[in-house]
Amino acid sequence: MSMRPRVTVNCAMTADGKLASRTRKQLRISSREDMERVKSLRASSDAILVGVGTILADDPHLTVKGLPPEENPLRVVLDSHGRTPAGAKVLDDRARTLIATTEECHRTWPGAEVVRCGKGRVDLGALMDVLEERGVRSLMVEGGGETIFSFFQAGLVDRYMVFVGSMIVGGRCSPTPADGDGFQDDDIVRLSLIDAEVLGDGVLLSYEVHDRRA
Ligand SMILES: NC(=O)c1ccc[n+]([C@@H]2O[C@H](COP(=O)([O-])OP(=O)(O)OC[C@H]3O[C@@H](n4cnc5c(N)ncnc54)[C@H](OP(=O)(O)O)[C@@H]3O)[C@@H](O)[C@H]2O)c1
Repeated sequence: MSMRPRVTVNCAMTADGKLASRTRKQLRISSREDMERVKSLRASSDAILVGVGTILADDPHLTVKGLPPEENPLRVVLDSHGRTPAGAKVLDDRARTLIATTEECHRTWPGAEVVRCGKGRVDLGALMDVLEERGVRSLMVEGGGETIFSFFQAGLVDRYMVFVGSMIVGGRCSPTPADGDGFQDDDIVRLSLIDAEVLGDGVLLSYEVHDRRA
């Protein structure tokens, strides 16, 4: 029986469906209450994953403030071509870090373990096998839009949680929760709404994904 990690996608979008502004710089979308929820969700996850686009745009720590390194979730970065900068905060000693790259990439980083999963682009199925071997049972995918789309496309998402903040940023090129190439009409992912909760000046929507494909 498959013991693949349970995948929760969590992100915050504006009321017009954007993850960030057109400059792709981090935007404070979450309310204080939502930030507390995200902290708890992180703390209860075995691993937290982002794409290298988020590392380059936001340079996040991806840690839970107050937790010692051994209790922080494993940080995982999708980085097919080794673009994570040497000084990225995700490489600090506040938690363990795994950089998932490809067979063509030979870069290494002090402070991170490197796994090579597939050719051309990180193969998410292969990465899930690696995470399973490491004992990861719960994986929180925090973004950005290219990464979240790939997880939906691979049929790997169990739960989708999106906080809708009360602001409009506009921009046809501003990132959204699921970018990538988009789905064909027949492939659209169907969700079941399981909860809607007001958290400060925004709303948290929680969905289950029923046609998990993998
Ligand atoms: N509001 C929120 O909750 C939130 C959360 C996170 C990020 N963001 C925002 O999202 C934006 C960044 O999003 P993004 O879509 O540009 O970048 P991203 O999803 O963070 O990273 C995408 C990159 O990951 C690499 N990658 C490797 N394997 C992949 C795979 N199998 N599928 C998808 N990507 C893979 C690719 O680069 P290589 O080909 O070079 O490997 C790809 O370009 C920023 O503006 C950030 O502020 C917002």
